[in-house]
Amino acid sequence: MKTRKEDVDWEKEYKIAEGKLWEQKAHTYSRLATGYVKNGKVLDIGSGEGYDCFYFAQKGYDALGIDISKTVIKKMLDRAGKYSLKLKGLAKDITKSKIGGKYNIIVSYGVFQFLGSNFLEFIDDLKNKTLPGGINSFYIFGNKGDFYKLAKHRFYFPSEKTLKELYSDWKIVKFSKKNTKLLIRGDKGEVLHNLMFKLLARKIG
Ligand SMILES: C[S@@+](CC[C@H](N)C(=O)[O-])C[C@H]1O[C@@H](n2cnc3c(N)ncnc32)[C@H](O)[C@@H]1O
Repeated sequence: MKTRKEDVDWEKEYKIAEGKLWEQKAHTYSRLATGYVKNGKVLDIGSGEGYDCFYFAQKGYDALGIDISKTVIKKMLDRAGKYSLKLKGLAKDITKSKIGGKYNIIVSYGVFQFLGSNFLEFIDDLKNKTLPGGINSFYIFGNKGDFYKLAKHRFYFPSEKTLKELYSDWKIVKFSKKNTKLLIRGDKGEVLHNLMFKLLARKIG
C-alpha cells in the first residue's frame, strides 16, 4: 500500500490485494438508512468490495455500486453471482462523468475527498438525484488532521459548517464526527488520523 503523499492507483491496489482492503460489513449508517426507506433504488459511490451493496441487495433493495476500479467491480459482481445475489456494478470515475438515474438511498464512505473542487457541485447533483423522502448517507473526511494536511492542495475536505449548510434544506437525521485512524500509514510508517464526518440526511417532501 502506498503512503498518503502519493496518488493511490486503485486498479493496482485491488489487483494485488490478497484479502479484503476494507471493513467486511455494511457501514452503521447504511443500516440506519433502511429504517427510513424500506425499499427502492440504492446507489453506493466508490463501493469498493461492495459490502454495503451486498447488505442492501440482501434486504431486497435494487443496489448499484460504482467504483473507479474495474477489478473491484468485477470482484463484487463475481461474489454476488456466487451467492445468487442480484446487484449491479459500474466502473466509473466520478471526477470525469456524471451519475445518471434517481435513487431512494445514496451512500458513499471515504470517497468524496477525491472530487477536489467539484465537491459542492457534485453533492448538489446528488441531492437532485435523490427521490423525495430519500436518504443521503455519507462518511466524509473533514478539514482537520493528517490526511487534510497532506492532501489539501489537491483533494477537498469540507468544514462541518459547509456540510451542514449544504443540507440545510433537508432534515439531518443523524450527524457525528470522529478523529478516525486511517488505514494507510505515513511515509515513516506513522499512524495517521483525520476528522471524519458521518451524515445521514433525509430529503423533505
Ligand atoms: C477508501 S475506499 C472506500 C471503499 C468503500 N466505500 C468502503 O468504505 O469500504 C475508496 C474507494 O473509492 C474508489 N474511488 C477512488 N477514486 C474514485 C473515483 N474518482 N471515482 C470512483 N471511485 C473512486 C476507490 O477505488 C475505492 O474503492
